[in-house]
Amino acid sequence: MRRPIIAGNWKLYKTVRETVQFIEQLKPLVQESKHCDIAIAPPFTALARAASAAAGSNIWIAGQDLFWEKEGAFTGEVSAPMLADAGCQCCIIGHSERRQYFSETNDMVKRKTQAALAAGLMPIVCVGETLAEREAGDTNRVIRIQFEESLNDLTVQDFFRIVIAYEPVWAIGTGRTATPEMAVEVHKQIRQLAQQRFGAEASRELRILYGGSVKPDNIKGLMAQVDIDGALVGGASLKPDSFASIVNF
Ligand code: 13P
Repeated sequence: MRRPIIAGNWKLYKTVRETVQFIEQLKPLVQESKHCDIAIAPPFTALARAASAAAGSNIWIAGQDLFWEKEGAFTGEVSAPMLADAGCQCCIIGHSERRQYFSETNDMVKRKTQAALAAGLMPIVCVGETLAEREAGDTNRVIRIQFEESLNDLTVQDFFRIVIAYEPVWAIGTGRTATPEMAVEVHKQIRQLAQQRFGAEASRELRILYGGSVKPDNIKGLMAQVDIDGALVGGASLKPDSFASIVNF
């Protein structure tokens, strides 16, 4: 049985003070939530304080991105060991906003995923098609290429340690959620790709999250699908009450 994960991606929101306040408010709302793993991804500046605030609770702290080198002359970058040092347990990698605004490629996603694994972080690797790709009937091809180019080089052992988030780009921040059936179709495809490359057990164990306008009022329908193992939540993760009601779906 796969354990669900509900993760909040804060993107470019919240100061250190707001982060600590959020975590203090969230803790009592989810302390009895034993049915899933819970993660929050604040901006880099707030990670260390977030980790201290979450220490001893059931809330994991995630980076939103990382750079694949451990250290060096790479102005502005943050490495996987630095995230681990700040108290992170996981890291979002290859979010569509990184691909769209910061020119991230599948090859970069691959290097970042490997760096996260080497530092002991759980990568949450994002894949998803744009509206134009979906309308052109290209969704399956796009997902397959993202999967193959960023994940096929992992070892089976490492593949067991990753999580994949399917985030259709057209559903992010638009209020336009994929229907559970649409999401499931792609989740099934991802599980099939995992089986072909990494085997039946790795595919069975793989947790695949859905992301894109997940809200308290649509989480139940999504989580009712056997192939949806959780959610990566943007806007609705910014308020403790709404994030907690998603966690406690
Ligand atoms: P929204 O939930 O705001 O659509 O964002 C989804 C997302 O990008 C999570 O990573």
